[in-house]
Amino acid sequence: MTTPTIELKPSSHPLSDAEREAILANPGFGRHFTDHMVTIRWTEGRGWYDAQLVPYAPLSIDPANMTLHYAQTIFEGLKAYRQPDGSVATFRPAANAQRFQASARRLAMPELPVETFIAAVDALVTQDKAWVPSEGEQSLYLRPFMFATEVGLGVKPANEYLFMVIASPAGAYFPGGVRPVSIWLSEDRVRAVPGGMGDAKTGGNYAASLLAQAEAAAKGCDQVAYLDAVEHKWVEELGGMNLYFVYGNKIITPELTGSLLAGITRDSLLSVARDLGYESEEGRISIDQWKRDTENGTLTEVFACGTAAVITPVGTVKSAQGEWTQSSGRPGDVTMRLRKALLDIQTGRAADPHGWMHPLG
Ligand code: PLP
Ligand code: COI
Repeated sequence: MTTPTIELKPSSHPLSDAEREAILANPGFGRHFTDHMVTIRWTEGRGWYDAQLVPYAPLSIDPANMTLHYAQTIFEGLKAYRQPDGSVATFRPAANAQRFQASARRLAMPELPVETFIAAVDALVTQDKAWVPSEGEQSLYLRPFMFATEVGLGVKPANEYLFMVIASPAGAYFPGGVRPVSIWLSEDRVRAVPGGMGDAKTGGNYAASLLAQAEAAAKGCDQVAYLDAVEHKWVEELGGMNLYFVYGNKIITPELTGSLLAGITRDSLLSVARDLGYESEEGRISIDQWKRDTENGTLTEVFACGTAAVITPVGTVKSAQGEWTQSSGRPGDVTMRLRKALLDIQTGRAADPHGWMHPLG
């Protein structure tokens, strides 16, 4: 498969420096978008073609567009970070490209070549480099996605798709910075089932999480933790983040069963933890164990991790079985050490021993 060359058609009216700076002063998460976007088309028989970088603009969608009805759509999330010398680098884009291919396979969509995915992200970040913030933990969040563009109501894999990349300057995902989030442990609603799409990054998984999320909010919690769909016993992940359990010097994350997302932050932390002298492993944690080990003091910290939210400590956990609090409701030492070590690599303040950073020209 040949990689289409991305034709650059930049905007003649990008935001002024002053307008952009005003946004970067308080970007929030996913509220503002840069001046450009990348689009690449795929049609059966022709493959990938018409790769362009164009001004950010709304799309015109036919009411019978298949995605609107049957949700054949996938996405990714990765970040570009400003480096100390003023240059910009993305974090593990090839890992996102590979996961995007895995999601495409699960939804019977065409696989975008890894090098095309990376070239599209590079083109957008290079064009909109001025949008990469340089303050503290801020970054430029990149959202590659693909959806069916065929028009029709027959239920089948579409014969045409649009791949796009958009970018959004990002501050803290949770307003209020690093403070422990409270978790509602949902014992009846599930996010994903064995054989389903839980390990694909597809809109339906997020739609499935919204009602439980609203119920969590009504109970005063920030996020939902989902359990396995068969025994309703094994902890899987949050709606948009993986979980880690800290037992003294060892960190454990739920193993990949097919119904949770193989997070790139999760994977990176298995290595970062070892670099810092901790043990790290994948395993199974039941809700009973979560509660019991918190109460007997062996489970010292719990944290959530993901691209958007980096590493976020877990504070109070509420469930039908009662309520308990991790590490007295304060961010734990291991959590904060891992958080700093990962952010130091991403922002170029520390060496990159695993070759994760992808510098832009
Ligand atoms: N789990 C879900 C359901 C997610 O949406 C995300 C976010 O991408 C993650 C986990 C964390 O994955 P990553 O670290 O690759 O961002
Ligand atoms: C991410 O961390 O990239 C996510 O996808 C989480 C959420 C914004 C969907």
